[in-house]
Amino acid sequence: MHPPDQLGRHRDASAACGDDHSPCTLHVNGTRHDLTLDNRTTLLDALREHLALTGAKKGCDHGQCGACTVAVNGTRINACLTLAVMHDGDEITTIEGHGTPESLDAMQQAFIDNDAFQCGYCTPGQICSATAILEEIRAGLPSHVTENLSTAIDLTDAEIRERMSGNLCRCGAYANILKAIHQVAEAHS
Ligand code: FES
Ligand code: FES
Repeated sequence: MHPPDQLGRHRDASAACGDDHSPCTLHVNGTRHDLTLDNRTTLLDALREHLALTGAKKGCDHGQCGACTVAVNGTRINACLTLAVMHDGDEITTIEGHGTPESLDAMQQAFIDNDAFQCGYCTPGQICSATAILEEIRAGLPSHVTENLSTAIDLTDAEIRERMSGNLCRCGAYANILKAIHQVAEAHS
């Protein structure tokens, strides 16, 4: 019970707001998590604060930097811009689901091979996006700079840069990130 207000009235905030929590099941990196979350919890906060998966980073919390990029049902999204309860039952892949320090996946290894980071803060989001854009290109999904929509998409620098444009790197590792993505793409071509 809240203390009385200036007019002596008692106010129950939970009654005023209704039920503000919901059950939510998230399948993260192949593991099921049954949670009860405040409806206002973003997916990013659910991952970081409730599941201790801190690989996805909070850079801007406004959809502007891409540090929080994860995949939901195979599609990359900014986890700071979506509510966790909207993803009840969804399959979520974070950077922790890509590889382990002992067994890196191809994109993680390529970032190391090409010195594609400095502080590393943006790197989980960069790797999640980089992995996703190669899938998008393989699936034939055009971008703003795709010139020919009737043939397979060319993996040009412009194509990669455009698709990675939502992932900012304050350290300016862009040139080497580009090399890392080309390395993985060429290995799988
Ligand atoms: S933290 Fe989500 S886009 Fe910046
Ligand atoms: S490596 Fe520092 S922000 Fe990208």
